[in-house]
Amino acid sequence: GLPERVTIWEVGARDGLQNEKAVVPVEVKLEFLDRLAGAGLSVLEATSFVHPKWVPQLADAEQLLAGLERREGVSYPVLVPNARGLDRALAAGVSSIAIFASATETFAKRNLNSSLDEQFGMFEPVVERALAEGLQVRGYLSMCFGDPWEGPVPAEQVVAAGRRLLDMGCFQLSLGDTIGVATPGQVERVVGGFASPDQLAVHFHDTYGQALSNTLAALRLGVSTVDSSAGGLGGCPYAESATGNLATEDLVWLLDGLGIEHGADLDALVRTSTWMAEQLGRPSPSRVVKALAG
Ligand code: HMG
Ligand code: MG
Repeated sequence: GLPERVTIWEVGARDGLQNEKAVVPVEVKLEFLDRLAGAGLSVLEATSFVHPKWVPQLADAEQLLAGLERREGVSYPVLVPNARGLDRALAAGVSSIAIFASATETFAKRNLNSSLDEQFGMFEPVVERALAEGLQVRGYLSMCFGDPWEGPVPAEQVVAAGRRLLDMGCFQLSLGDTIGVATPGQVERVVGGFASPDQLAVHFHDTYGQALSNTLAALRLGVSTVDSSAGGLGGCPYAESATGNLATEDLVWLLDGLGIEHGADLDALVRTSTWMAEQLGRPSPSRVVKALAG
C-alpha cells in the first residue's frame, strides 16, 4: 500500500544546477538552499565534491559549504566520487554524503572514467572511511531503466549493482532514471527485484513526461523517499538527453492529493522556483509552478 509519509530528497541545488549552462553565483545558491529549507524541506542535496573540470558549475563547493547556514532538522548531503572528494567533504564539515555508481558500462566510463566493475573498487574505501567518520552514506545508481548508448537495461543487472552498494554499507539506494525513459511497468520490475522497499529511493528525470506515473508506481510498492528538484531543474552533463528532475512542486501536488504527509509548503516552493527561474533567465518547466505562479 501507499506510505503515510514521504521524505522528499531535494536535489535542485546539486542535480539542478550542475546542468545549467551559466555558473550560478554562490550567493544565489545559498539563498536558494535557504529558501528551500524555509519551505519545509528537510533534505537538501547541496553540491558535489567532484573534479571541478568535470562539473564547473559546482566548482564552488568549498565556498558554498563555508557560507551555508545550516538549519536545525535539515541535512545537506553532498556527492562524493572518490578519496579526494571525501577529503574535501570532510574538510568542509559535511555529515552526509552520496556516492554515485552506474548500472551500465558505458555510463561508468563517461561519468566516472571507470569500468562498471572498477567503480566499486573506487567507492568501497570511500564508504568505509565515511562510515568510520560517522557520516551517513547514500548510494545512487544511474541508468537503472535505460541508457542512451546501451538501450534498455535489464532489471537483473540493476539489482545486482544496487545490492553491491547496499552491501557496502549505504543506508539507502536511490534508483536513478538518469535520462527519463522509464515507464511504470519497468519501475515495478526493478523495485520488485529488491528484498524490501525500505532502503530504496527513486530518482526520476522527466524527459518523457513519465516521472509522476513512475513515482506513483514506486509509492504503491512501498517506497517512501522520492528525489525531486524545485521547479524541475536538472539533468546530467554526461548523459545525452537527460532533462530536468521530477519537479518538487509536481510531487507535492501528487502527495497532497493522495493524503501523504511530506512537510513542504507548496506556495513557498512555487515562490522559490519562480525566483530561481528569474535568476536563470528562463521559466520553470514544472506544470504545477506554471499553474500556481501568479
Ligand atoms: P579522473 O580524471 O579519472 O580522476 O576522474 P583521477 O583520479 O585520474 O585524478 C585526476 C586528477 O583529478 C588528479 O589531480 C586528482 O587529484 C584530481 P592531479 O594529480 O592530476 O593534479 N581529482 C579531484 N579533484 C577534486 N575533487 C575530486 C577529484 N578526484 C580527482 N573529487 C572522477 C574521475 C570521478 C574524479 C571524475 O570522473 C568526476 O569528477 N566525475 C564526476 C561526474 C559528475 O559529477 N557527474 C554528475 C553527477 S552523477 C548524476 O548526476 C546522476 C544522479 O543524479 C542520479 C541519476 O540521475 O541517475 C546522481
Ligand atoms: Mg539525476
